[in-house]
This record gives sequence, C-alpha cells and structure tokens, in this order.
Amino acid sequence: MLRNSEGGFGAITIALHWTLAALILGLMVTGLLMRRIEVEPVLQFSLYQWHKSLGFTALGVAILHTAWWFVERDPRPVSGLGQLERSASRLAHRALITLGLLVPLAGWAVASASTLDIPSFYFNLVIVPHLPLPKSEAAEAFWAFAHAALAYVMLGIVAVHAAAALYHHLVRRDAVLLRMLRSTVGASDGEPVEEGENAVRR
Ligand code: HEM
Ligand code: HEM
Repeated sequence: MLRNSEGGFGAITIALHWTLAALILGLMVTGLLMRRIEVEPVLQFSLYQWHKSLGFTALGVAILHTAWWFVERDPRPVSGLGQLERSASRLAHRALITLGLLVPLAGWAVASASTLDIPSFYFNLVIVPHLPLPKSEAAEAFWAFAHAALAYVMLGIVAVHAAAALYHHLVRRDAVLLRMLRSTVGASDGEPVEEGENAVRR
C-alpha cells in the first residue's frame, strides 16, 4: 500500500517520515557538536560542510514530505484518542512540517550572509549557491541566532512527539507507533467515520 488509507499510513508517508526524522536527528547532533567541541580547523571545516550537505538533503526531503502531506489524507484516528489528544497531535504535526522547512532555510541564510563567503560544497559534488542576502556580521549573527533558536524549538517538539509515540506504544498499547512503522498496521483499527470525516484535514 503506497498511499495513506482510512486505516493507516502508506509506504511513501512512512519512508519520507523516517528519512526526515533520521536526517533531522543527525543534523541536531552535528550542529551541537561542531559549535561546541574544539577541533583543528580542517576537521571543523569538514564538519560544517557535512552539516550543510546533510542540511540541504533534509531541505529537499522536507519539501517532498510537505508536498506529500498536503495531497494525502489523514488516516482516521486510532480508537480511544480524546479530542484534546487529536488536536495536540495535529498541532504538533503542523509545527514540525513548518519547522522542517524553516530550520534548513535559516541555516542556508547563515551560510549566505556570512562575510567569510565560504562556498557550500554539496558532498563535494556541486557548489550550492548562496541565497541573495546582504552579507554582514550583524546579518550572520541574526540568522545564526534564528537557525539555532528554531532548531532547538524543533528539538523540543520532536522530543514531546516521540515521547507521545512511545507512551502510546508502551503504556496505552495502541497502534499509533506501529502504523507509522508498517503500512499494513491499522487497516482494521480505528473508529467508524462519518461521511466526509476522513477527507484531508490539514
Ligand atoms: C533540518 C536541518 C538542520 C538542523 C536540524 C540544523 C541544526 C543545527 C544546530 C542544532 C546547530 C547548532 C546551533 C548552536 O547551538 O549554535 C546548527 C548550526 C549551524 N548550521 Fe544547521 N541545521 C540544519 C540545516 C542547516 C543547513 C541547510 C545549513 C546551511 C546550508 C546549516 C548551517 C549551519 C551553520 C553555518 C551553523 C553554525 C552557525 C553559527 O555559526 O552559529 N544548517 N545547525
Ligand atoms: C524519533 C523521532 C520520531 C518518532 C518516534 C515519531 C513518531 C511518529 C508517529 C508514531 C506518528 C503517527 C502519529 C499519528 O498517527 O497521528 C508520526 C507522525 C508524524 N510525524 Fe513523527 N516521529 C518522530 C520524528 C519526527 C520528526 C523529526 C518530524 C519532523 C518533520 C516528524 C513529523 C511528523 C509528521 C508531520 C507526522 C504526521 C504524519 C505525516 O508524516 O504525514 N516526526 N510520528
């Protein structure tokens, strides 16, 4: 099952979700490390280039994920979820979709506004051009702050989002996490839906 159905997520949603999740978690780790550990300049340069290459990849996957998210329907909620839980999860998904785009764009802006004008070598294959932004120390500092602040807000939401998934799996023992792991899970689970209720609800 490639596409989402009333009963669960399709393989495309699942593949995009976990690819993006892995990239974002990897970027958080490289971002945190490269700003905090003292290493020789050559290794520092290489860490930044890896971070930027993975970041551009995350931006590409986030654009695909967002486009797919808009065209796909939501599966019907797993049975037993209260109204508050449904609203909270919808809000978290919207925030994650938005931040998945804004965080790498702000990172690209840092590289573009820097007076050092260091090119971004995408995995040593091509040079990604800078965004047309004014270059100054103040502009670089602004975008660095915005990139870090948005990244840490996203990390907080991801932590709550992942904790909620684990809570459902381990405590409530429902299909919330399993149906994001296997596209066949949930086909017979969930509440009966009224006419039109399972249409796209973004
Ligand atoms: C979803 C994607 C991304 C995530 C989650 C992410 C995360 C982070 C984090 C956590 C930091 C450390 C912030 C700090 O504590 O000061 C950081 C720094 C940085 N990131 Fe990203 N990043 C992403 C994408 C990008 C992209 C696409 C670029 C550039 C093309 C980029 C360029 C940078 C730069 C230049 C810094 C250092 C900023 C400074 O000098 O303060 N990032 N990133
Ligand atoms: C290890 C971390 C993560 C875990 C355990 C996790 C788990 C889940 C689960 C179980 C669902 C299904 C919820 C439901 O049925 O309503 C879900 C959906 C979703 N998650 Fe995550 N997630 C993680 C990381 C992320 C990240 C980093 C993002 C950032 C973009 C994200 C964005 C979303 C979105 C937008 C949905 C709605 C379904 C869709 O992809 O269209 N998740 N997640």
